[in-house]
Amino acid sequence: MSRSYIDYKKPRIRDGAVRRFLFVVSLTLAGVLLLFFLVGMNSSNEIYEMDSSSSSIEFSFNTSGLIKSIKLPKHNHLSKMLEDRNQLPPRNMDLYPNLAKDRIVIVLYVHNRPQYLKLVVDSLSRVSGVNETLLIVSHDGYFDEMNKIVEGIRFCQVKQVFAPFSPHIFPSSFPGVSPNDCRDKDDPVEKSCEGSTDQYGNHRSPKIVSLKHHWWWMMNTVWDGLKETTGHSGDVLFIEEDHFIFPNAYQNMKILTELKPSKCPDCYAANLAPSNVKSRGENWNSLVAERMGNVGYTFNRTVWRKIHRKATEFCFFDDYNWDITMWAMVYPSFGRPVYSIRGPRASAVHFGKCGLHQGQGENTACVDNGMVNIETEEVDKAVNIKPEWGVHVLSNQEGYQAGFRGWGGWGDKRDHQLCLDFAKMYHVRSKTS
Ligand SMILES: *[C@@H]1O[C@H](CO)[C@@H](O)[C@H](O)[C@H]1NC(C)=O
Ligand SMILES: *[C@@H]1O[C@H](CO)[C@@H](O)[C@H](O)[C@H]1NC(C)=O
Ligand SMILES: *[C@@H]1O[C@H](CO)[C@@H](O)[C@H](O)[C@H]1NC(C)=O
Repeated sequence: MSRSYIDYKKPRIRDGAVRRFLFVVSLTLAGVLLLFFLVGMNSSNEIYEMDSSSSSIEFSFNTSGLIKSIKLPKHNHLSKMLEDRNQLPPRNMDLYPNLAKDRIVIVLYVHNRPQYLKLVVDSLSRVSGVNETLLIVSHDGYFDEMNKIVEGIRFCQVKQVFAPFSPHIFPSSFPGVSPNDCRDKDDPVEKSCEGSTDQYGNHRSPKIVSLKHHWWWMMNTVWDGLKETTGHSGDVLFIEEDHFIFPNAYQNMKILTELKPSKCPDCYAANLAPSNVKSRGENWNSLVAERMGNVGYTFNRTVWRKIHRKATEFCFFDDYNWDITMWAMVYPSFGRPVYSIRGPRASAVHFGKCGLHQGQGENTACVDNGMVNIETEEVDKAVNIKPEWGVHVLSNQEGYQAGFRGWGGWGDKRDHQLCLDFAKMYHVRSKTS
């Protein structure tokens, strides 16, 4: 232990008057320093609009040499309306005034496939225990038909949030398509257009980048941006608009998350379904630990903090898929194996045949009315996980090798910046807002 300067000095000051004098002097000094600091902060801490024609507002903070600036796109009418709407309290609080203390919050993230969403919501309505928790529906884009489905939910508390900076909300400027954007493989100099290409020489496609942006915005918002969840210390379950959820999903998940730390110390998450989306499980008498899948994954704030610390890795990795970005870049950067625990029989299935990019109103509209026949058998209606089971570890699953540089589609510097800004937006405080 090293001694501090004060400790060393103390015995020399015997006289109380001298001590009091020194105390007053140091207090004054501290006050003056604080004043300088505040004045300094004020002058560099303002929010200023670059100029009226500029498309963005810049926030700058200079605190003890630490430079943080976030440059979110300037709101349009719709994005501002959505941001305000995100502050509304959940619906159905009158029907379900009390949430369970040990609830797992459910986040359903959707784009625009109403025929799918109807099925998912219908399946959720039959999930046992769902009425004790909060369902958050995170929308990429604003679509009446999608809203109507969510507004019809009566089986639990439900809160809608809308990604205000979705490309779908900006019809003629970034993050949507702006008139001056380069296309395909345009040379920015030759065409004097805006944009930087991915590693394969292609310019951004707003519809394609919207998925990764939405996922990242949603993660940041759910964990760090909503008053309903920022204090939530438990787990959060994430599902998508084409995941059919079996009635036992919620109760199974509660058991899995409870068993996880003791049964599988390398497990960061729990899953409702195998990582291979075509599999419905092995029906073994054991739990399974494997690579994290993207059907019904659940983790807690400790894991989110680890992910959030890898914002740079996430935002700069040249792959437009959030899940591949996580597998190939973020999890490997943890420096330890990352597993997820699940039951031997799926409690959720992915049923969508239409890709997310094949929504409505396109020439290539995908016709699939969602009339998939998913049978709910007796075993899917009640808890079918046994706490006494062991864990079967599936290691050496095929995955992305070290050195994999991504499938591209995520090369534009503006997308990198927006992504970094999403990671910062709830962590910088502006004094004037
Ligand atoms: C922030 O500080 C850096 C030097 O640390 C300086 O170059 C920069 O101009 C400052 N920015 C603002 C907005 O004051
Ligand atoms: C939740 O649903 C169960 C039946 O699944 C019921 O027994 C319970 O009373 C419900 N709780 C609330 C708060 O509605
Ligand atoms: C969150 O999950 C991790 C990984 O399973 C676990 O080690 C940790 O104890 C959990 N934290 C809390 C607060 O439950």
